[in-house]
Amino acid sequence: MSAPVHIAIVMDGNGRWARARGLARTEGHKAAETSIHEAVSWCGENGVGFLTLFAFSTENWSRPAAEVTLIMSLLRSFISRNLPELQRKNVRIRATGRIEALPAKALADLRGAVEATQGNTGLQLILALNYGGRAELADAARRIAAEAVSGSLDPASVDEAAVAARLYLPDVPDPDLVIRTSGEKRISNFLLWQSAYSEFHFPEVLWPDFRKEHLDEALKVFSSRRRRFGGLG
Ligand code: IPE
Ligand code: IPE
Ligand code: MG
Repeated sequence: MSAPVHIAIVMDGNGRWARARGLARTEGHKAAETSIHEAVSWCGENGVGFLTLFAFSTENWSRPAAEVTLIMSLLRSFISRNLPELQRKNVRIRATGRIEALPAKALADLRGAVEATQGNTGLQLILALNYGGRAELADAARRIAAEAVSGSLDPASVDEAAVAARLYLPDVPDPDLVIRTSGEKRISNFLLWQSAYSEFHFPEVLWPDFRKEHLDEALKVFSSRRRRFGGLG
């Protein structure tokens, strides 16, 4: 089978990684940066076109305020520490989710990184922040309804392509492979529309321990799958 064009990862297990070491949960989030670095490098080396990382869900606001604040400040330090190297590697940073609701400083840094790298033609690194699959579909439905009411869209013409065109990043192909670390086997509101025909892989490794070898293994698993898309393959 051909290599995945788009890999999407639910980076899960930071809290358990920290707890296993007698550390505060936040230490797990801090340790995640190395894993992100590894994943980005591996994708660059293996010709992957798109890497989407689920970093903060629409439901993660329900965590303690201090943890949310720490995650947002880690987003900022990730950008400032990694932007020069990502530029050198021709990586284009993009965001998906209701990002306008992020804290002002995190949002400004994120927008700065997106703008600074928008001309890059290598790997597209997509950060899913305040992202929820249901929110994305609700946002698309609201846009469709508004266009229909204004008369610019005929309700009878609304088909799958019309919905797909109103998602956050309509130009990005669906993920071929969705990986969720930490052994949890659920989607947790990630890319609900886009993952309709994705292959899923659920390694036990906790996200802070995730390294290139885990992506080698994921690629092997992916290569052994037979994708049929409802046909006979
Ligand atoms: C994933 O790790 C990071 C985010 C959801 C922001 P968790 O924080 O969910 O770690 P566990 O699942 O509690 O171990
Ligand atoms: C999914 O992980 C969200 C991210 C990794 C950003 P969670 O840890 O929030 O998911 P649940 O609560 O276990 O379903
Ligand atoms: Mg979790």
